[in-house]
Amino acid sequence: MNPHALAFPEKFLWGASTAAHQVEGNNVGSDFWQAENDGTWSLPDRSGDACDSYHRWAEDLDIVQSLGLNAYRFSIEWARVVPTPGHPSLAVLQHYRRIIEGCGQRGLTPVVTLHHFTSPAWLRDQGGWTSKEAIAHFTEYVRAVLPILDGVPWVCTINEPNMLAWTTARRADRAASAPSFVPPDPEMTAALTRAHTQARELLASVPGVRSGWTVANQNVQDHGAGADRTAEMSYLIDDQYLDVAKGDDFVGVQAYSRLRAGEQGVIAPGPADRRTMNGWEYYPRALEDAVRHTAARLGGSTPLLVTENGIATGDDDERIEYTGEALTGLSRAMSDGIDVRGYLHWSLLDNFEWGSWEPTFGLVAVDRTTFRRTVKPSARWLGRLARGHADPRAGRR
Ligand code: FCB
Repeated sequence: MNPHALAFPEKFLWGASTAAHQVEGNNVGSDFWQAENDGTWSLPDRSGDACDSYHRWAEDLDIVQSLGLNAYRFSIEWARVVPTPGHPSLAVLQHYRRIIEGCGQRGLTPVVTLHHFTSPAWLRDQGGWTSKEAIAHFTEYVRAVLPILDGVPWVCTINEPNMLAWTTARRADRAASAPSFVPPDPEMTAALTRAHTQARELLASVPGVRSGWTVANQNVQDHGAGADRTAEMSYLIDDQYLDVAKGDDFVGVQAYSRLRAGEQGVIAPGPADRRTMNGWEYYPRALEDAVRHTAARLGGSTPLLVTENGIATGDDDERIEYTGEALTGLSRAMSDGIDVRGYLHWSLLDNFEWGSWEPTFGLVAVDRTTFRRTVKPSARWLGRLARGHADPRAGRR
């Protein structure tokens, strides 16, 4: 293959991602809403109306279609589908079914996530994911959703189990701060693994559905920690979750930056490092590293889907620069034979970034009062790439 040619195949999925709690608004039955409003996690901002996508989803899909993208990733909200255990809401299921059909009507492939960080507040009251009944509750939810998944080729069971388990451990260990490395909570990891495995079995009964979970690749790199410690950290934060994906229909790769493992622990990005709006190191190679790492760990037999990659920045040219570099790296990995089926940019909209409205990851800006959407140049640029009319290598400034 010509080393200068780009490796994106004709049927590649080009799209953008969102998550229910971050865009829908008034997700009042969820644990995150509860925590935002009772102050437990001392978050600076509340999600409130978010982007009002619960009502404006058709407008969002129209934008994705008008850009020339061919896929849209969104999540179904457990707390809405099952507002009270044992009583799934048929009306809410029909709402999500309309979104799935709305994708089809616009030629968009839906990529549906069943759990994107938020759970029902009632589960939190019972002790959350590690409580006795949690897995049974989750499978009840998945069973309720199965009938609306007809025609959905990609279903992500749980988004970033590693981040969920890591956040749990870090919340419990408030004293710990960089440079110490707090490993993800093992009980939480075990519970999420069980939930994923059961969901996978249920999803196998729906013809045409491919299921997998998504892992937030941390790209742990040895910056003085030594090979053994680096491998151990990588195992704890990434690889144990990738191992669960062995035998799945696909694995979702999500990558933004890297984690430098130093002699004293994690090396946080400092003033000398170029950083993004939310403080992460600017590191567009993250995607190529993550894709190569994931494929190597899974032995090459599981297809990969990039379910998230993007940058928080107020400078849209920088978004193009970052994404152009990330996609060039992705193409390099694919020319080496790594089976990647699509690229879904995080995020379609400037949305509620888990406690703060400040970091803007969106291809599209959203007015917080009128909810008016404004398409940014980066969105049009990604659309041109999707249609083969632009080259990511030209994204650089
Ligand atoms: C990922 C989350 C997503 C978003 C991005 C920036 O960890 O899955 O919801 O917050 O990071």
